[in-house]
Amino acid sequence: MRALVTGGSGHIGAAITARLAAGGYTVAIADLAEPAPEVAGLADRYVAADVTSEQGAREAVQVAAGAGHLDVLVNCLGVSPKKNGRKRPLGEIALEEWERVFAVNVTACFLTMREAMPRLRPHANASIVNVVSAVAKLGAAGPDGATYGPAHPSGAHYCASKAALANLTVSAARELAQHGVRCNGVAPGYIGSGMGGTTDATVETRLLGQVPLSRSGTADEVAAVVGFLVSPDASYLTGEIIDVDGGWVPD
Ligand SMILES: NC(=O)c1ccc[n+]([C@@H]2O[C@H](COP(=O)([O-])OP(=O)(O)OC[C@H]3O[C@@H](n4cnc5c(N)ncnc54)[C@H](O)[C@@H]3O)[C@@H](O)[C@H]2O)c1
Repeated sequence: MRALVTGGSGHIGAAITARLAAGGYTVAIADLAEPAPEVAGLADRYVAADVTSEQGAREAVQVAAGAGHLDVLVNCLGVSPKKNGRKRPLGEIALEEWERVFAVNVTACFLTMREAMPRLRPHANASIVNVVSAVAKLGAAGPDGATYGPAHPSGAHYCASKAALANLTVSAARELAQHGVRCNGVAPGYIGSGMGGTTDATVETRLLGQVPLSRSGTADEVAAVVGFLVSPDASYLTGEIIDVDGGWVPD
């Protein structure tokens, strides 16, 4: 079984790589950054690719699938620009930053899915998992001290891009179903590592006050749900986005 994890060098992507490798997958990582040695040791190969380009996405899928098929694609790459650990106000978001956020969080996922589709093995539990975010439903928080809107550090561009990715996940699920390929998402809440680890301490305290389980999640807790979604146990699940957020966002 072969898997491709984009963003596999990041904190959550590394945990997903480890989970898939433990489940018997031969995992390729596609990332701008090299994986840490312990993660590189679990992955079969690393592709240094910017998957926002057609060429990068094609190369990543080709390397992961080799001459054969791909069983799993996990899109875990992402960017969330912040200003000193807080959300950048909408009026301060430069067009260039907006476009980069959409290129990484949405376009790259479209491109890797498009490249992977012909390689995903029909009727062999092949599936795609996109890593979305709780903020896809929440939108950006209000200004400091506001009583409306949940506190979190994500800018409006990040939130909008994750909402677009959630929608793309549902569209892909419907289209791929006829080929026996499933497509789902996970929506992590506040994971206190990776991009979450750059959050301002005051914002973090307010944010965790909104989480019923009263703590941040871990990359392993997200990876466990990804592991379930790609497994035969989830064979009747497609077009689903599972919140992994300690109860933060109500359905
Ligand atoms: N950490 C959290 O609290 C949190 C919460 C909700 C959702 N998420 C989502 O989880 C995913 C992983 O986040 P993380 O916290 O591990 O962040 P991270 O920054 O540790 O990992 C992101 C990875 O994406 C890679 N990447 C960025 N642009 C790329 C490109 N163009 N081509 C290839 N690779 C690229 C980066 O090099 C990095 O390794 C992201 O999609 C993020 O939006 C994270």
